[in-house]
Amino acid sequence: MNSKIYSICVVGGTGAEGGGLALRWAKHGHRVTIGSRDVEKAKAAAAELNARLGSELVLSAESTEGVLSADIVVLTVPFSGQLPTVEGLKQALQGKILIDVTVPLVPPKVSKVQLPESDSCVVAVQRLLGEQVRVVSAFQNVSAHKLKNLDHEIDCDVLVAADDKDARLTGIELARHAGLRGIDVGVLANSVVAESLTSALIWINKFYKVPDSGIRITGLPTE
Ligand SMILES: NC(=O)c1ccc[n+]([C@@H]2O[C@H](COP(=O)([O-])OP(=O)(O)OC[C@H]3O[C@@H](n4cnc5c(N)ncnc54)[C@H](OP(=O)(O)O)[C@@H]3O)[C@@H](O)[C@H]2O)c1
Repeated sequence: MNSKIYSICVVGGTGAEGGGLALRWAKHGHRVTIGSRDVEKAKAAAAELNARLGSELVLSAESTEGVLSADIVVLTVPFSGQLPTVEGLKQALQGKILIDVTVPLVPPKVSKVQLPESDSCVVAVQRLLGEQVRVVSAFQNVSAHKLKNLDHEIDCDVLVAADDKDARLTGIELARHAGLRGIDVGVLANSVVAESLTSALIWINKFYKVPDSGIRITGLPTE
């Protein structure tokens, strides 16, 4: 199968969720850079992933440098840092696709949906960046723990929303390259569904004493 190789910068890839996505995309063959506010921290995270992969595939950079060198940027930082991070990267992001994984969790009540004024925190990012950046919402419902376990098939779909159809297709493609099924859920405003679902999944994990509940969309043709 022909598969395009992308240059991907994961901003916040030093953390659990971004690290898991970076690991899976590097394993697929993409050129992945871990972006961080601290280049030494990015180096250490990239070295850890490379040790797991037995290669030197994963690169590291200060976030702005990483974003400038990437075709696709993935944002995996806590909600409290989301808008300030995007504001700081606004110029570097122009013309690119940004996949935002942010869930608007407000500690300590992370099992309760607490949406921001804009409803969707990813829609707020699109507004801040303007239409020259194609923002995609994806991966909010997949746990880092699952992403890091390369030997395990992940029992969870990825809801992919974006106003730009090609960007949405790229998000779905990257879900597949991470070993997941991406589902087209339409315009970016629908991101609010995935953003809200995560708190319900956190509740389910606690209530049923399971580590990683997930979601499946039924009734679709088999691939
Ligand atoms: N963990 C999960 O299972 C999971 C699942 C689904 C979605 N998510 C979402 O994915 C995002 C990342 O989750 P995570 O668990 O990986 O988070 P995390 O480990 O707490 O943070 C990820 C990285 O974000 C950067 N960061 C931390 N605080 C920041 C701030 N105030 N401003 C800017 N950057 C900051 C740090 O990178 P540097 O210090 O290197 O810059 C950190 O390593 C969150 O929005 C989360 O809700 C997580």
